[in-house]
This record gives sequence, structure tokens and C-alpha cells, in this order.
Amino acid sequence: MAVQINPSILSADFARLADEAKAVEGADWLHVDVMDNHFVPNLTLGVPVVESLARATDTPLDCHLMIEAPDRWAPQYVEAGASSVTFHVEAAAAPVRLAREIRAKGARASMALKPATPIEPYEDLLPELDMLLIMTVEPGFGGQAFLDIMLPKIRRTRELIGKHGLELWLQVDGGVSDATIERCAEAGADVFVAGSAVYGAADPAAAVRGLRAKAEAVTKQATWACDH
Ligand code: DX5
Ligand code: ZN
Repeated sequence: MAVQINPSILSADFARLADEAKAVEGADWLHVDVMDNHFVPNLTLGVPVVESLARATDTPLDCHLMIEAPDRWAPQYVEAGASSVTFHVEAAAAPVRLAREIRAKGARASMALKPATPIEPYEDLLPELDMLLIMTVEPGFGGQAFLDIMLPKIRRTRELIGKHGLELWLQVDGGVSDATIERCAEAGADVFVAGSAVYGAADPAAAVRGLRAKAEAVTKQATWACDH
């Protein structure tokens, strides 16, 4: 699977979202962080903003729901125009049922793990998913330092994907930058969310190209990618 770079609009100017989406044309997806001030101690945006953003850009939306009760709300984000919807397993009452519902509504289904949530209990669920998100910071805020201690979990998840022969994408989110993206790619990630590293740069589109070049160079050499 090719490297994908997903700029997070959490670090963009929320008063100019359509322009900020255009500023990263060439990105694979726009990462949209939905926070409810309950699951995480921060509040961002909801269904109406996703609807407007979906109309304003041709780049597909990757909605990361950091909310309680995703079983109730996630399907609405598919209806609002998200092409991929990620729920947190820590918040989901019935993750398999929810993933099936997201897929049935026509979006890619993705499940996220906070840093302290292990992958092993979810091995049997992986075929139900299109993407797994490993958080490399505690969710809630942009601009935090990358947690190196997540690299072994990325490696173990990549091994499980190989073991089961799955097409699952492996996304990392939090502190991904020029300084950390190569470690993530080497460990087995193939979808990279970057907020401050893209929107904090003078030229966001160039930042996306720079991140992609670094991740692609490492992926070409990575042992996990050699079997493909
Ligand atoms: C944090 C969000 C991230 C955030 C990443 O909870 O899920 O998507 O935007 O921001 P950076 O790349 O600045 O760490
Ligand atoms: Zn996110």
C-alpha cells in the first residue's frame, strides 16, 4: 500500500477551512478531528462543519471521532460526507457492529487506540476494519511530542496485519513530523496524520511533499513492506 499523508485541520485556521483544505491539495485525505469535551478535554466541531467541508473540497475526509457514544454518532458522519470514519475502541459499546454499520453506509471503517490501549485483545476484530489508528500522543490536542514508546505497538500491529494477510491500513496520529515520520514508517505505519507539521509550515503543500518523500524512502527499504 502506498504511503498516504493526511493533514489534520486541527492546526488550520477554523475561520478559513475551505482555503486551508485547498492549501494542502496533493494530500491524500483531510484529517478532521471531532472532539466532544467528554472523551477528550477539548471541543472542536461536529456534523454541520463536516457537511460544509465535504462540499468545499474534493479531498476525501478522514473523520477521527474523539467522542463518547460513537455507536450513536458515527453513522451521521458518513451521511455528512466522510469517506473514512474512525471511532475509539475505548468509547465504543459494540465495535464490530459499529464498524459494520459504517461500512454498510459506504465509508471506510477505522478503529483508534489510545496510547495505553493494547492491540492484542483486538486481533480477531481486524478483518472488520479498513484502517487501525495508533495514537502516538494522548488524544485531545495538536502540537504534542511524539511518544516513541508507541513504536513497538506499531510493529506488533504490522505483524498481525501480515499474519492474517489483511489489506488494513495502519495510521499514526500525534507528533508526526519530519523528525519522527521515518521511525513510524520503519515500524510499519502507512497512513500519516500531521497537523502542526503541515499547517505550522510556511508552505503546507511543500510540507506534505516533504513528509511523503521521507516516508516513501523508508518504506522502500522496510522489512515489513518487502513481502508486498
Ligand atoms: C490529537 C489529534 C491529532 C492532532 C495531531 O488528538 O487527533 O489529529 O491534530 O496534531 P499534531 O500533528 O500537531 O501532533
Ligand atoms: Zn486525529
